[in-house]
Amino acid sequence: MTRILMVCLGNICRSPLAEGILRSKLTSDKFFVDSAGTAGYHIGNAPDPRSIAIANHYGLDISTQKCRQFTVSDFDLFDHIFVMDVSNYSNVVELARNSKDISKVSLILDQSFPNEQREVPDPYYGGEKGFDNVYHLLNHACDYLSKRFL
Ligand code: 4NP
Repeated sequence: MTRILMVCLGNICRSPLAEGILRSKLTSDKFFVDSAGTAGYHIGNAPDPRSIAIANHYGLDISTQKCRQFTVSDFDLFDHIFVMDVSNYSNVVELARNSKDISKVSLILDQSFPNEQREVPDPYYGGEKGFDNVYHLLNHACDYLSKRFL
């Protein structure tokens, strides 16, 4: 079993979409996919309605996901930790205990645009278009990711 964690700030906009998209491309018998946020603002909540809507538009149901906060034990539970932006990277790596923990963490868009330090923009304060853009960035990255793992 390969365990993959998607991480953003709130765990209500970007990482729930990333979780839903990647899960749809991998088989559940070999892969466990989850998501978490570095902040604790929305613990226990469902994803943002705009993320649920864009997922639905592309045939995915992410409405039953529940927000949780990233914890240090996630370094033990997951093989790969994909973050959305550089700020998420710093927040996660700050909790790392050793170089093995750090080696698990990378920007999700490194999959589709290696060595460019590209970030998935936070759509929380913007409009619907931002969510469509996030969907396409993540879908493209998850295509690369799933091909890498399959
Ligand atoms: P996310 O977006 O990190 O993609 O889930 C955000 C959601 C909530 C907040 C910030 C970003 N917030 O400040 O509550």
